[in-house]
Amino acid sequence: MNVLVIHGPNLNLLGKREPDIYGTVTLEEINSRLALLARELGTDVTFFQSNHEGELVQKIQDAMGTCQALVINPGAYTHTSIALRDAIASTGMPTVEVHLSNIYRREEFRHHSYISGVAFGQITGFGIESYLLGLRAAVHAALSANKK
Ligand code: DQA
Repeated sequence: MNVLVIHGPNLNLLGKREPDIYGTVTLEEINSRLALLARELGTDVTFFQSNHEGELVQKIQDAMGTCQALVINPGAYTHTSIALRDAIASTGMPTVEVHLSNIYRREEFRHHSYISGVAFGQITGFGIESYLLGLRAAVHAALSANKK
């Protein structure tokens, strides 16, 4: 199994970016922890970060046929991007939406996600654990999609 992990805009700045909200963990540290967990779970994992909506859409399309599940933190595109939602719906890849912060405890404009309606599920508010739980959930989602 291969799980694709996508990080959206501004997540390359983790560690420096609003540490009171997102903590001090860097994206490299998150990816290393995910790689360790992936080994434990017996799955391959591929990472991608972009600040550009079109690149994120392209990556999701390109993963069709090579990846069995997607973990995505769409960043601010969560709240704006019909294109990302359509890409996920079009590929039909089991998708877990993750957020470091609890988007429902923050500003009202963050309470709506365009992604959640096409995701297998959403994990929000657990910091780096959101990603680790997300990877476990993605493996589970891929296995249950396989059984259908
Ligand atoms: C985020 C939450 C979004 O509202 C925000 O725009 C981000 C990060 C999170 O991980 O908590 O960039 O997705």
